[in-house]
Amino acid sequence: MNFEYFCNTRIKMGAGASNALAPIMADMINPDATVMIVSDPGVRKIGLVDPIEAHLTGSGYKVVHFNEVSPNPRDHECLAGAEVFRQEGTTALVAIGGGSPMDVAKAIALLGPNGGSFEDYIEGRVTYANVAPLICIPTTAGTGSEVTRSAVITLAETHTKITLKHELLRPDVAILDPELTVSVPGSITAATGVDALVHAIEGYTCKLTNPVSKAMGAAAMKEIVEYLPKAYRNGADFEARSKMQEGSLLAGLCFGSADVAAVHCLAEALGSLYDTPHGIANAIFLPYVVQYNAEEDRALHAELSRIMNFADELDSETVAIDKMVRGLYAFTEQLDIPTLGELSYVKASDLEHMAEIAERNGSTPSNVRPIAKVDYLNILEQAFL
Ligand SMILES: [Fe+2]
Repeated sequence: MNFEYFCNTRIKMGAGASNALAPIMADMINPDATVMIVSDPGVRKIGLVDPIEAHLTGSGYKVVHFNEVSPNPRDHECLAGAEVFRQEGTTALVAIGGGSPMDVAKAIALLGPNGGSFEDYIEGRVTYANVAPLICIPTTAGTGSEVTRSAVITLAETHTKITLKHELLRPDVAILDPELTVSVPGSITAATGVDALVHAIEGYTCKLTNPVSKAMGAAAMKEIVEYLPKAYRNGADFEARSKMQEGSLLAGLCFGSADVAAVHCLAEALGSLYDTPHGIANAIFLPYVVQYNAEEDRALHAELSRIMNFADELDSETVAIDKMVRGLYAFTEQLDIPTLGELSYVKASDLEHMAEIAERNGSTPSNVRPIAKVDYLNILEQAFL
């Protein structure tokens, strides 16, 4: 098959890896330059930003902060960050947090030096030249944004999510320090962890997959299925935290050069209407979409079931698929993921609109089984019961 796989992100992983930030930064920019730390109020509050700021200022860098970042980050937040970037004469960015600060940092790295509006980039009126250097330090194990070329941003006026996607948006460096994830609460561990599992499953099965993505996705699925329940039950389990960061990284390397698919299309529709956290939205739809997709390619889905250890070589295709579907419902249930019907703010009258938004998502054509509004609506109605 013809494919291209590309990832130019330097990856440094290990306990205490965040202490390597200043030496790595020294390879990239002048020692007295201004660095913008992009985080969010929650990450700052639990004390993950202060030590990294002290580490940078102790090495001579001037630090400015930007933490006006929502869970589903907005276009105006990115534009405000870009303004601060320019006013402060910023040279490089460090993102600390989950997917939202990392995606906002990517947008600021683009909009800060280049200017322009989101429309300019979507419609191709401005080039992606001069993207500022960016180092990502994820504090959750899920998004994989530290190694991907995309940033998902919500346009506040229309409640629509857009994805900026370009090779130059891929972070220059990803520093993965599992110690930073130990304080993440159980509910966020669960939601972000299932997001990573969905990245691996969708990257592995989607129409844009390739052999390298599949290798990364298979390794990610094995680790996440084994270690996410352990990390959820005991946040202090360092081995589980470490394996989850690895799994999330591998899942990012899987879908980052392939695509996501119908689970994300539904999750982004739910998130854009109600601000449902991305991981929870993905977890809600995962078993339903896998069940739907299995009808298209039974051999592929039996293979998926064996990779995740829901089935073994002796199980027939039918048994393997059945075990995986039941296994995924049980998997999200043990992580205390709510059902769609349990989200009290979701209105039955909005399901059709959600199905329309999902159908328009740019990743709908990537789904392994053709899927249209009527199919999305069917899944939403089943999930809402
Ligand atoms: Fe995701």
